This record gives sequence, structure tokens and C-alpha cells, in this order.
Amino acid sequence: MAKLHIRKLGDEALRKVCRPVDNITPRTLTLLDDMLETMRAANGCGLAAPQVGILRRIAVVEVEEGQVYELINPKIIAFSGEQEAEEGCLSIPNQWGITHRPMNVTVRATDRHGNTVEYTASGLLARAFCHEIDHLDGKLFIDIAKMEE
Ligand code: NI
Repeated sequence: MAKLHIRKLGDEALRKVCRPVDNITPRTLTLLDDMLETMRAANGCGLAAPQVGILRRIAVVEVEEGQVYELINPKIIAFSGEQEAEEGCLSIPNQWGITHRPMNVTVRATDRHGNTVEYTASGLLARAFCHEIDHLDGKLFIDIAKMEE
């Protein structure tokens, strides 16, 4: 595994709409492994491929240690409720803001084996899914957050 460079606010990769993954190749699996290592080294709970300069619809999330979600071509297929909480981003260091997100989401994605998977989440995990999927469309939490000083 390798630690990748995390792009920071101002890098144009963070504002691109990413392309779907058509085929899961050994490179895809290496990227997933490297993204997990990179996210953990930075003490993050989610990382999207554009944050490491790869414009593909791939993200990893680990809100609870050891509970890793690898999301390829993820889509939110259902959501309900509302939550308001503090959010940050590895690409925007030392800035936090309050965002409104759905309290519950169901995400459909492809896993590393090519299987379609669905995850239903609430609270922090739901927020992490929303945050990472936003990254795949070039959206950042600061676009919707009330920023804190
Ligand atoms: Ni982020």
C-alpha cells in the first residue's frame, strides 16, 4: 500500500464531476487500498478519489474503526429525516462548519468484487456517505455549511 497526496482546497480536481468506474481492475483495488491507508494516516473518516487526484466515482468511509465501506459508483437511493452537525474535510484542513444532512440514507454501490451492495446508515455514517458522494460531483461541505470561526 502507498500513502497518496491529499489535494487541498483550490486544486481543480476537487471541483470536477467524476466518471463512473466501468471495470474493476487491479488498479482499482490498489487505489481502494491506498485510499484507506491515506485516510487513516490523516485521521479521516472518509476519502473520495478526487481528493487524491483520481477523477473516478470511488470513495472509502470508516467512521467506526475496522468498519470499512468501499464505495464504487455510489448513489443515494433513499433518504429521510434531518441532522445538523459539525463537519470537516481532509482537503480543507482546520476548518469546520455546521451542515444539514439527511439523518438516514440508503446507498447503493458496487463493492470490490463487482457485487451490488446497499448500506443503510444514520447519523455520522449517513453524513459521511453524503459528504463523500458529494465529492464525486465536485461538491464540498463548505458549499453548504455555516462556517465556524
Ligand atoms: Ni471531504
